[in-house]
Amino acid sequence: MASSRGEFGSRFGFVMAASGSAVGLGNIWGFPTQAATNGGAAFLLVYLFLAFVLAYPILMAELVIGRHAHANAVSALRQISPTRLTGNIGALGGMAGFVIASLILTFYAIVAGWMMAFCLASVADLIGLTDFSRWLMTFGWWRNVVFMLAFMALTMAIITAGVRAGIEQWSQRLMPTLLIMLAALVGYVLTQEGASDGLKVYLMPDFRSALSPQLIIAALGSAFFSLSLGVGTMLIYGSYLKDDENLPIVGGLVTLVDVSIAVLAGFLVLPAMYVALHNGVEIFTETGALISEDTLIFTVLPELFATMGIAGVLGSITLFFLMSIAALTSAISMLEVPVAYAIEEHGTKRRNAVLIIGSLIALGSVVILLHFESLFGLVIAITTRYSQPLLGLMMCVYAGWVWRRDSLLRELRKNDPSAAEGLFWKVWPWYVKFVCPVIILAIFSHATWG
Ligand code: TRP
Repeated sequence: MASSRGEFGSRFGFVMAASGSAVGLGNIWGFPTQAATNGGAAFLLVYLFLAFVLAYPILMAELVIGRHAHANAVSALRQISPTRLTGNIGALGGMAGFVIASLILTFYAIVAGWMMAFCLASVADLIGLTDFSRWLMTFGWWRNVVFMLAFMALTMAIITAGVRAGIEQWSQRLMPTLLIMLAALVGYVLTQEGASDGLKVYLMPDFRSALSPQLIIAALGSAFFSLSLGVGTMLIYGSYLKDDENLPIVGGLVTLVDVSIAVLAGFLVLPAMYVALHNGVEIFTETGALISEDTLIFTVLPELFATMGIAGVLGSITLFFLMSIAALTSAISMLEVPVAYAIEEHGTKRRNAVLIIGSLIALGSVVILLHFESLFGLVIAITTRYSQPLLGLMMCVYAGWVWRRDSLLRELRKNDPSAAEGLFWKVWPWYVKFVCPVIILAIFSHATWG
């Protein structure tokens, strides 16, 4: 059964692909910005704790369900349901997941397009095309549309190639490149004046702020978005895993890679902010709050690079190229969610599914660009603040309450015959049943009434 579907060829390939999904604009910019707003080191500590204690178990829920069913979220949740009713509710949840994944991609493609535009702008600077460079860096309809479409076209091309040739091959190449480039940039930034102020903020915790509920909820949300949870992305990736793969270890590796890159990105962005501050660039408003995320990255970083001469141009090319890569490997994981559904539930050919769904998503992005002021923030809020926690809650309920325990154990035994004696089996089922839902409900109620 599994062999008629796509399947990852190696553990390395899977870990790279799933980490490629997890590591994206969220880690490289979102996490460091939140760390900067929420007390730096205190946020880092809470984030580290929550990533392993909360996000990892939910990631496991998606991976286990996915591998068991070897199917997309809709039929996977139906398969593990003992009754018709829970099956139908699960299928509805799975459908909600692919709608949300598609909606996330509509704004993600826009921001990723900006990354590509800024990368190209520095190349244009390098060869003396200053007017073109200015156009690329200025917020405008044609710039936005052209680069959003270019990004979507790249994503669609990779997804068309399928699991092994597409997702795995690309991620295997892109992910290590990303790590190396990030480390090199961190090394560079740390030699700059002002960087030590950023390091101090990032590494010296203030334990009073570590206990504030606002910080904890921010760190929770960050971990959740960062690991691509809720919408069925990781469930689909799990469904392409071979049965003999050790799930708890593979999931742990993915979490480790995701968290490491976020922490590494913090070592780049926080010092870079204070280098910019040192050079007279405004990064805080008059009230001491951080200037909003998109303003920060697209105003402050180019200004920072501008003070570095030719090294700055090269640094800018590197950084925005790196961001584009990270966004691309995340975007392919989003597009795979609705594409896998169309292929498996409606027998659509992969090429056609990609073409139709990709075009619809691009159309959605165009609509957002047409009504940017009102729609952009709204779509982000609806998808990431409300939908993701709710859908994550559903994954926990299905793994912990709906799925029969003996069937779940049988799944874990596929790769580890002694799973019943292991620590994972003793802790995890109870954990996703009670602890994770309570925490997610807390996030959701805060987002609603906080
Ligand atoms: N985790 C990615 C990031 O940090 C984004 C992402 C990819 C995502 N797939 C997802 C977010 C699915 C939510 C749901 O940028």
